[in-house]
Parts: sequence; structure tokens; C-alpha cells
Amino acid sequence: MFVDLLLGLQWGDEGKGKIVDAISNDYFIISRFQGGPNAGHTIKIENKTHVLHTIPSGIFHKNLINVIGNGVVIDPVIFEKEILKLNDSDIDFKKKLLISKKAHLIIPTHCLLDKASEKSKGIKKIGSTLKGIGPTYMDKTGRNGIRVGDLFLDGWKTKYSKLKNKHLNMINNLNVDISFNLEELEEKFFKSIDFLKKFSIIDSENFLFDSLKEGKKILAEGAQGSMLDIDFGTYPYVTSSNTTAAGACNGLGIPPTKINKVIGIFKAYSTRVGSGPFPTEIFDEIGERISRVGNEFGATTGRARRCGWLDLVSLKYAVDINGVTELAMMKSDVMSGISKIKVCTSYKQFDKEIYRMPFSLNSSSLSPIYSEFDGWGEDITKIKNESHLPNNLRKYISFIEKNLGVPIKIISVGPRRDQTIYV
Ligand code: GDP
Ligand code: IMO
Ligand code: MG
Repeated sequence: MFVDLLLGLQWGDEGKGKIVDAISNDYFIISRFQGGPNAGHTIKIENKTHVLHTIPSGIFHKNLINVIGNGVVIDPVIFEKEILKLNDSDIDFKKKLLISKKAHLIIPTHCLLDKASEKSKGIKKIGSTLKGIGPTYMDKTGRNGIRVGDLFLDGWKTKYSKLKNKHLNMINNLNVDISFNLEELEEKFFKSIDFLKKFSIIDSENFLFDSLKEGKKILAEGAQGSMLDIDFGTYPYVTSSNTTAAGACNGLGIPPTKINKVIGIFKAYSTRVGSGPFPTEIFDEIGERISRVGNEFGATTGRARRCGWLDLVSLKYAVDINGVTELAMMKSDVMSGISKIKVCTSYKQFDKEIYRMPFSLNSSSLSPIYSEFDGWGEDITKIKNESHLPNNLRKYISFIEKNLGVPIKIISVGPRRDQTIYV
């Protein structure tokens, strides 16, 4: 079995980009299988910070192939910008970046529809990144979408016009005021399509089958997190794809029998961007401190991330759904200096204590029940060995491991590659 998965277990932004980059050398191929430019994966190499939206996080390794799988949705305008930003990194994109013919395209009116739909929801808005993700997946499952491979066939522009007109009608029906200059957006879009067509566009599932036959190791890089999964997340405050393990099979064409390790990644606390329930959210100065020290601002939209304590109920749910075999715990350095640390181990709902995820977290009658831990004061950002971590942090780690029944194999103590402890 040669496919390992790396998946976010919370509400996204767990540090997937950092860890994929850090462990990439063990693999031959890194592949993205869902999501699109709603993702923002940060990689810090020496003093340079890169944020990737569509490109897999193995791109900075000379000998690796990076695949954008069929389950990903691509905005060619954002893709072009992303590539041009990386131009001085001396990357041979033609050889190193392969794009599935079956990946769907985000067209300008998908983004406008996203905007109009959010506006029409008022205070009930999802808090979408406004990158057109929901409308693009809606057209995919509605069988109206345009795929990258269509760009090489006659008639795709007719399909495009039909889709655009459908979107304009939908926007009109929503009856909200959004301003846009479609001519300008389309000019950029068609230019970026020409740019995209120059890349290596392939039947990526066949490439992956062949690579597996040759015994090459693949790492599938998730986007978002399990609590944003369209089926298992905090619906409707979710994204529009399956962010969980099965999504990697659909989004790449990989049989489940080929999956080996499932690495679940989580922060030592929780964050969430956008709307939706978040039982362990902290509203006092500790939340503000985590936000500041952890620099918790969205890598894609710049929005402030809401911060909260670790939630073991939702984390256990994510471990079960994904079949997590090992864990990576991120950003414990951010918790240094907090004297008392809380961890949610169950919820109280309608005066009953519950240990499993309920149908909905939306209820105002649901509150977290916490265990409390003594914190640690030491700066841990230079520690290279697990045994040198402060005792209280080690106690926190073993409590989490026991509760989840899965070992923590990676402890991240800073954003750089070398600030990673392998246990
Ligand atoms: P992703 O979407 O899961 O790839 O995560 P993001 O890149 O959106 O957000 C994670 C942020 O935390 C980035 O700014 C990373 O540089 C940073 N980061 C990752 N790991 C650590 C860590 O262990 N400690 C600290 N302080 N920052 C980290
Ligand atoms: P990475 O891969 C954090 C959130 C949005 C919103 C909801 C739906 O960097 O972890 P969408 O644009 O998908 O329709 O938004 O999902 N969201 C993310 N939050 N990290 C992400 O990606 C996210 N991608 C989407 O904030 O609440
Ligand atoms: Mg992110």
C-alpha cells in the first residue's frame, strides 16, 4: 500500500502546508484531491513565506511530482497569479506539476453567485471565502460544469455562455445588490485559460495507477478540515467537498485498499474562520492572546480566525471518520505562558452529558465540559527532542493520545521545517 493521507481534523488551517512540505521527501508524488483556492496552505522556508491555494505543498522539493487531482476545482485566474508568484523559485512546472483533465473550472460568475448567495443569506451567511467554491461543486454534481479537459474540445465556449447566463439569472433572482464588471472579469479569465492550457494536463488517475504499480509512494494532501466536510461537518456551515479520507479516493481515483497511513493534523487549540457553531470558542483575553501569538489570520482572506480550546469530542469524531492512524499536533508553542489550559472532553446538551458528536452543534442549549491542565511557561520553539518538552506539555499530549486512542507522531513547535519534532 503506497498512499498516505494527510488531513485536517478541525476547521482547517491546522498547518497542513507546513507538514506536507516537511515530510515530502518520503514521497514521489504529492497530490491535492479536493477544494480549491478557498485553501491557503502556508510554507515557511528559511525566511520566506509562501501561501499555496491550488498547487500541492510538495512543489518546493526538486524531485517531486505534484498532482492537482480531479476532485479539485481550479480558478485559472488565481492559478496564474499563484504560478507567477513562484517564478523566482526556479521550479520546472511543466515537469513537476500535473493537472487532471477532470478537475472542474471556476468561472467568473461562480464567484459572483457565491457573493450574491452569501449576501442574500444576511446574518445566516456561511462566511464563504467568496472564491466560487459552492457554486462550482453545485454545477459539478448538477452535471453542468466545465472541466479542464473540455478546454481542448470544440464547443466549450458555448457551454461556458450557457452556464454564465444560468448564473446571471440566478443572481438576478436573488435580488441583492452586488456590483461587478463582467467584461473585465471575462477578459482576465480567458487570458488565464490560455495560460493554464500550456501546463501538463493529463488523465491523472491513470498516472497515479501507473505510479502505484511502479511502487512509487504518494501523499494525498487534504484541504480544509473534517469539521468543514460537506457530509460530516457542521452543516450548513461547511465547504462543498468531502474533506475526509474517502474524498481522497474520489478526488484522485485511488482505491481505498491502497491507503496506508492516515495522518490527522490538529492544532493544540482550535480555530475557525467564517460562521457556524464553535462550542469551545474563547471570548476573553486568552482567546485574544492565542490569536495574537498564533497569528491567527486567514491565509486566503486575511480574516481573523476565531480561537477556542481543544475539542476532543469533535476530534474523536474526525479520528473515527478518517480512520486516523497517527496524529500531528501543531502550534503547541503558541500555548506557552497560558497558566491553565482547558480541553473539552464532553458536551452538556439539554442537561445531559454527551460524549459523541450530536446531529447538530447549532443549539444554544449545548455547552462544552472541560478538563483543566496546568500550562507551561517555557519557550519550546527550539526544542528538537520530545523528551526535552516541558512536563506539563507532555502530560497534555498523553491525555490527548489516551482520549483519542491514536499516537501523536509529529509535534510542531514553530512554522519552519526545522521546528518539527518526530516522535
Ligand atoms: P493549512 O491551511 O492547514 O496549511 O494552515 P495555514 O497555513 O492556513 O495556517 C497555519 C499557520 O500556522 C501558518 O501561518 C503556518 O506558518 C503557521 N504554523 C504552522 N505550524 C506552526 C507551529 O507549530 N507553530 C506556529 N507558531 N506556527 C505554525
Ligand atoms: P485550508 O485548506 C479554513 C471555510 C470558510 C467558510 C466555509 C465555506 O487553508 O485549511 P467556502 O469558500 O469553502 O465555500 O467556505 O469554509 N473555509 C476554510 N476555513 N481553512 C480553509 O482551507 C478553508 N476553506 C474554506 O471560511 O467558513
Ligand atoms: Mg489555511
